[in-house]
Amino acid sequence: MIKLLLVIVGSIILLHQVVMRIVRRFWHFPAPAFISHVLDSNLRRRVQPPDVLIEWSGIAEGMKVLDLGCGSGALTLPYARAVGPEGRVYGLDIQPDMLDLLVRKLAQPDNKGISNVLPIRASAHNLPFAANSFDAVGVTSVLYEIPAPQQALHEIKRVLRVGGYLAVTEMFMDPDYRLKSTTIREGQQAGFMLDQAYGNFWTYTVRFSKPEAS
Ligand SMILES: C[S@@+](CC[C@H](N)C(=O)[O-])C[C@H]1O[C@@H](n2cnc3c(N)ncnc32)[C@H](O)[C@@H]1O
Repeated sequence: MIKLLLVIVGSIILLHQVVMRIVRRFWHFPAPAFISHVLDSNLRRRVQPPDVLIEWSGIAEGMKVLDLGCGSGALTLPYARAVGPEGRVYGLDIQPDMLDLLVRKLAQPDNKGISNVLPIRASAHNLPFAANSFDAVGVTSVLYEIPAPQQALHEIKRVLRVGGYLAVTEMFMDPDYRLKSTTIREGQQAGFMLDQAYGNFWTYTVRFSKPEAS
């Protein structure tokens, strides 16, 4: 009975993955705001614990961080706590509905102490920041949802300071998921230096740094 159940659940997941990947190949659109139920779920926090992602991303106290494609802020708030009052986090997203969710989250009593988050509506293709202005950029379940990932990577490189970190995190369940090797190749093609790669097939973070001559 349990075996049968596992086969049914496994087949549904596989079918969902195949259908979604075919759809995404032909139809590019940002993840709809209702996905925030999944992004903010306990299951997601189990699979991708924010404190682990923070460690893998090299985010530390006092840093100025860009959470690119922040969505409803599932990681923006943990980033804000990690950088502390001396640091700052810019939550950037292309969709107003996602940013509304982030703003609402910031207004919740539990998060009243957080005053270092700035929500910004913009596209990853054209970042509204000066060159060399960030210590770290987090790109979680976003890179391959962006229509021109190389353009976004070049923009990220422009706004990162030399030695700053770009952390690209992917999760298999995301229909835009790509393999770790693909992400390493894309980052290097954009001129980043591979720093560390963490995780496994199901979820991983590749951390790059911006080299001196770039
Ligand atoms: C799957 S969600 C991930 C949200 C968040 N990073 C997380 O891990 O919880 C992808 C987000 O990327 C945003 N996005 C997609 N294309 C974008 C673009 N070109 N510029 C900025 N944000 C974009 C979407 O609006 C969406 O909020």
